[in-house]
Amino acid sequence: MAWKTLDDMDLDGKRVLTRVDINVPFEDGQVTDDTRIQRIVPTITDILAKGGSPILLAHFGRPKGKPNPEMSLRLVLPALETALGRDVVFMERPSREEIDALPGDAVVLIENTRFSPMEEANDPEMAQFLASLVDVFCNDAFSAAHRAHASTTGVAELLPSCAGRLMAAELRALEAALGDPKRPVVAVVGGAKVSTKLDLLSNLVEKVDILVIGGGMANTFLAAQGISVGKSLCEHDLAETAREIAEKAMTTGCELLLPRDVVVAREFKAGADAETVKVEDCPDDAMILDAGPDSVAHITQAFDRAKTLIWNGPLGAFEIPPFDAATNAAAAYAAGLSRSGKLVSVAGGGDTVAALNKADAAESFTYISTAGGAFLEWMEGKTLPGVAALG
Ligand code: 3PG
Ligand code: MG
Repeated sequence: MAWKTLDDMDLDGKRVLTRVDINVPFEDGQVTDDTRIQRIVPTITDILAKGGSPILLAHFGRPKGKPNPEMSLRLVLPALETALGRDVVFMERPSREEIDALPGDAVVLIENTRFSPMEEANDPEMAQFLASLVDVFCNDAFSAAHRAHASTTGVAELLPSCAGRLMAAELRALEAALGDPKRPVVAVVGGAKVSTKLDLLSNLVEKVDILVIGGGMANTFLAAQGISVGKSLCEHDLAETAREIAEKAMTTGCELLLPRDVVVAREFKAGADAETVKVEDCPDDAMILDAGPDSVAHITQAFDRAKTLIWNGPLGAFEIPPFDAATNAAAAYAAGLSRSGKLVSVAGGGDTVAALNKADAAESFTYISTAGGAFLEWMEGKTLPGVAALG
């Protein structure tokens, strides 16, 4: 590993600027899912244990370079204090004097970095200002590592830097899933559109042994083979691209698993009249909304053959039952294999984690990433600037 961890740093008496991702869902004055907050607690605790003072830096929402009270990190402060079990000092406009005047064991949270346009522009002036506040930089925001911003990359170039506990755990898990995995590796890629996951599919067919394609994007692959998908969501203009990916899979020896049977309905609503048909029998006036039991059986057989699973995207329209059946069944099966130590399973992406939570499977997975976009970009084989800057 090219980067240092907290273990490599002398933090005694040091102010440690700690980039975290506490960009959490927030509704009706409440944090509705505090997973990202919970997952940064070990880093903060360890910095304190090493005698350092964590000065937390984070973004919240997309305020586009202007202060916006609806995206103030003040809103997240109570949930952070609850998770840490202690008070946190909030600073709207931090200064070195103010920070130095605090007791050594204080935890500070600085206001939303994106209130300044200099953040997303990775303006060197902002990076220099942030660096001038502290002695050391710790990046624990893997889920923001695909952004080259002042608080993720700019400041890392200016200070002795290291990865936090969560950042290190995310990188280790991804390395185990795709970098140097136990083979065979099976990847599940689902979700609505091929167009948003072209780079992903193209990279995965080079890296994995079995690629399961599910969700709306499977329809594009089916249509590209001349199968009629009725009124299903389908990117017909990407038929050629889908054929190219399938051909690439043939040359790399990656086995492509497409649905064999599908659940179809005339309406997309909870409890809609649904039937299971063979993939070539989708009625002209119906939509494919989930994979069928035969498809699930093939997927779980692939899981049985595999030693590593990487999962991004649901297999069907999981938000609305009964179209969550394939996702739930495959997730439960992967969870069982993971519990018995037969499968290393790693999943990421907001929808994916929601689907696995809904299926009660997430807890049994080997690793659940906190990242959405960063997880995808990593799986696409891209260098994440926030990680590169730690090297
Ligand atoms: C996320 O929520 O995925 C990260 O916090 C990054 O947020 P962004 O997509 O607004 O950069
Ligand atoms: Mg550090």
